[in-house]
Amino acid sequence: MASLYRLILPALRRLPREAAHELTLRAVELGAGRFLGAAAAQEPDPPVLAQRLWGLDFANPVGLAAGYDKDARVPDAMLHLGFGFVEVGTVTARPQPGNPRPRLFRLEQDQAVINRLGFNSGGLDAVCERLSQRIRSGIVGVNLGKNRDTDDAAGDYAKGILRAARLADYLVVNVSSPNTPGLRELQQRALLGSLLERLSSVRETTGCQVPLLLKIAPDLTAEERRDIAQVVLEAGIDGLIVSNTTVERPHGLLSRHAHETGGLSGRPLFTPSTALLAEMYRLTQGRLPLIGVGGIASAEDAYAKIRAGASLVQLYTALVFSGPDLVNQIKSGLASLLKSDGFASIAEAVGTAQGAPSVRRSGSLVVPS
Ligand SMILES: Cc1cc2nc3c(=O)[nH]c(=O)nc-3n(C[C@H](O)[C@H](O)[C@H](O)COP(=O)(O)O)c2cc1C
Repeated sequence: MASLYRLILPALRRLPREAAHELTLRAVELGAGRFLGAAAAQEPDPPVLAQRLWGLDFANPVGLAAGYDKDARVPDAMLHLGFGFVEVGTVTARPQPGNPRPRLFRLEQDQAVINRLGFNSGGLDAVCERLSQRIRSGIVGVNLGKNRDTDDAAGDYAKGILRAARLADYLVVNVSSPNTPGLRELQQRALLGSLLERLSSVRETTGCQVPLLLKIAPDLTAEERRDIAQVVLEAGIDGLIVSNTTVERPHGLLSRHAHETGGLSGRPLFTPSTALLAEMYRLTQGRLPLIGVGGIASAEDAYAKIRAGASLVQLYTALVFSGPDLVNQIKSGLASLLKSDGFASIAEAVGTAQGAPSVRRSGSLVVPS
């Protein structure tokens, strides 16, 4: 049965991209989520997709990437669509409007999106208030950013950790969105080292060991990639999310919006973000879980991310083009791919496209097939 989303997709396409997103979000908020997606969301996930990471039990590895639900309006409705986890945010310390519109563009022919939203955010107070109203079930992470006009970037992230630590299953330090001036510079070795050290000790003061992850950009030099790997291992960061949107414009983009300023996501991001993922897996020697994100639109794409080193995956842009049925398609396809390659779990498949044995956190040796 076609989901309602597929039926209303032509109408949504005719709306400006941001209005279509707001309309979908409002509908989900009002309880229409289960009608937009397929009924299959109610079926239990195949056991082969289950895994335990950071002490959290993931029923499946397919997550909703940051940016879809910036203000934590619908995390539970999105979990009910079949996601194994949902990341809300990016949330800034104080509310801010983001960049002037238009700031979101749909690249239909390229199955891509360009955004220069610039962290439009209702702020920490609003997000934490909503999260505190939840009956907690299902894994929800909170992605933290900084205000555009702040003088103290580290202070903004610290506030986010202090406020959200007890309300989130994991936290993300986002230093990789391209639309906030100066943000990506925080990925440079010296700045990143002192930022992560400070944030690790802020987390200590909260008394709860909420996992702290770092989300990185795909547009990094070889030196920056090596530095980041070293710094996250030294600072005791729990995981990496690879990657955010790209400011590059790969050759061959067809859509008329291809030269808009902002971060490009979707299909053209798949290859560069997967290459970066594989490299970060190698540079961190498989010692911390990675979340692979960028251009996933099928079970094969999700499987390629896992084989490149991801323990979990996330998606956003493909949802815009395919609707929420995609989540269940990816999960069932992934279960078949794992089984047909003889893997009894995701953990067994992680990093097996790397060509070299690797030691997982559990200490067991994983030899590529
Ligand atoms: C409209 C839009 C808004 C986004 N906003 C955020 C954000 O606030 N914080 C963040 O870390 N990533 C944000 N992202 C990046 C996504 O989380 C993801 O890293 C990226 O889009 C690649 O995945 P995809 O190709 O599946 O979309 C945004 C992406 C899009 C398309």
